Amino acid sequence: MGNGPYPPLAGNPDIVAPDTANLIATVLYGRSGPITILGHAFSGVMPAWHDQVTNAEIAAVLTYVRSAWTTQHTS
Ligand code: HEM
Repeated sequence: MGNGPYPPLAGNPDIVAPDTANLIATVLYGRSGPITILGHAFSGVMPAWHDQVTNAEIAAVLTYVRSAWTTQHTS
């Protein structure tokens, strides 16, 4: 659901975007700088994960988030 500097994944339209390139890049390489999600501004730092989790693990996490969470909240 997000909290403080951490934006929500549930209900976030970026999570269910048909093009998953930005989503995958965010988890692989992290991101920082201003972003507005569901009308709320964030400007935090997400760490990169590519050194700690395999591509298969990232794919599994993102498949779970895109299907089990967000689809239910936005449909
Ligand atoms: C594997 C689990 C995670 C996933 C799938 C994930 C996914 C994302 C995504 C997709 C965004 C961008 C939102 C958008 O583009 O609409 C984001 C932003 C962010 N994440 Fe994560 N994240 C994860 C774990 C974490 C963790 C553990 C932290 C903190 C240590 C974190 C901190 C942040 C922060 C601070 C932002 C906002 C960055 C900014 O303001 O520019 N994330 N995350």
